[in-house]
Amino acid sequence: MNKDPRTASELAATYESQIKGKIVLTTGVSPGGIGAAFVLGIAQSQPALLILAGRNLAKIQQTADAISATGVKVRILELDLVSLASVRASAEKVNAWDDVPQIDVLVNNASVMAVDWARSPEGYDSQLAINYLGPFLFTNLIMGKMLKSPAPRVIIVTSDAHRLSPFRFDDYNFRDGEYYHKWLSYGQSKTANMLMAISLAEKLGQRHKLSAFSVHPGLVQSNLSSHLKLFGEDDSDMIPMRDIDRVMGNGIGWAGFGAVLPCTPEVGANVYVYGAFDPEVAAHNGCYLLSCRVADPWKDTVRPWATSSVEAERLWKLSEKLVGQEFVY
Ligand SMILES: NC(=O)c1ccc[n+]([C@@H]2O[C@H](COP(=O)([O-])OP(=O)(O)OC[C@H]3O[C@@H](n4cnc5c(N)ncnc54)[C@H](OP(=O)(O)O)[C@@H]3O)[C@@H](O)[C@H]2O)c1
Repeated sequence: MNKDPRTASELAATYESQIKGKIVLTTGVSPGGIGAAFVLGIAQSQPALLILAGRNLAKIQQTADAISATGVKVRILELDLVSLASVRASAEKVNAWDDVPQIDVLVNNASVMAVDWARSPEGYDSQLAINYLGPFLFTNLIMGKMLKSPAPRVIIVTSDAHRLSPFRFDDYNFRDGEYYHKWLSYGQSKTANMLMAISLAEKLGQRHKLSAFSVHPGLVQSNLSSHLKLFGEDDSDMIPMRDIDRVMGNGIGWAGFGAVLPCTPEVGANVYVYGAFDPEVAAHNGCYLLSCRVADPWKDTVRPWATSSVEAERLWKLSEKLVGQEFVY
């Protein structure tokens, strides 16, 4: 749940001086989603350029059209995170844009949730590929451009669903789908998102002044669960998640989501604005943010497997192997 009721644009107004003149690249900005609400929210604060990345150009164009009313420059980037080859091609395009000398903020927002088993073109669980491996590769491939910024920031959108699974080092691909569980897979990918923020902060914080945060937007009405039956009379897709929560002893497994009202994408995106532009939060490099503050492991859902530097480094090494490239900073 997002306990801060401010909208992204309300928050953006307070950070206007930080947003003004910045170049911001955001993935997954289809209309109706949190990423779109983020870019629309900050557009009024005069960023120099908003780069909108996504797999469906027609949808991204709709968001671009909505931004154009503000007069802010927009550029569209085709990016399909499921395929490492496609990620490489998109990163090459960004790196070849001579008129975009630097990227100040990268928001890795795009994700799928609890989709049926599918193999990515390179043979990985598609949720792992889209939600984590693609963003890992993309971020590292455009890092040269990010490091041209005096104080670059990377936001990685995660979820309290990280509670559902640690990173499964011995079986991240669910025995090639044989033991696939769509909620464990989503949980694993969201844990990976948090670990990636820790690694980026540790590897690039001191020497390169880069900040990285994982952010949880709360329960938000968006397109993410449109393929699932979660609420109402038929909640058949909720049951396997509830079962994991009960097995793990998570209170939500009994309390359910019934009492939690989803917020709008405009409110969900407030924590993106906070992570990307708040000057004070930079002191908490690598942290997990929610409700426009640093998460409190005593009070919030924060699992130790998603905040461990050891797990983060193990994952970084494995990810290098899976994408076939080392990234040393
Ligand atoms: N909604 C919630 O309650 C909630 C809670 C916690 C965390 N989150 C996180 O918030 C973030 C945004 O989700 P949302 O709720 O705004 O969902 P959404 O409306 O479904 O937006 C997800 C975006 O990701 C894009 N995407 C999916 N697969 C992609 C791929 N292969 N390559 C490139 N882009 C791809 C989608 O593009 P298409 O439109 O083309 O499918 C869409 O633009 C996600 O990281 C999610 O895990 C959401």
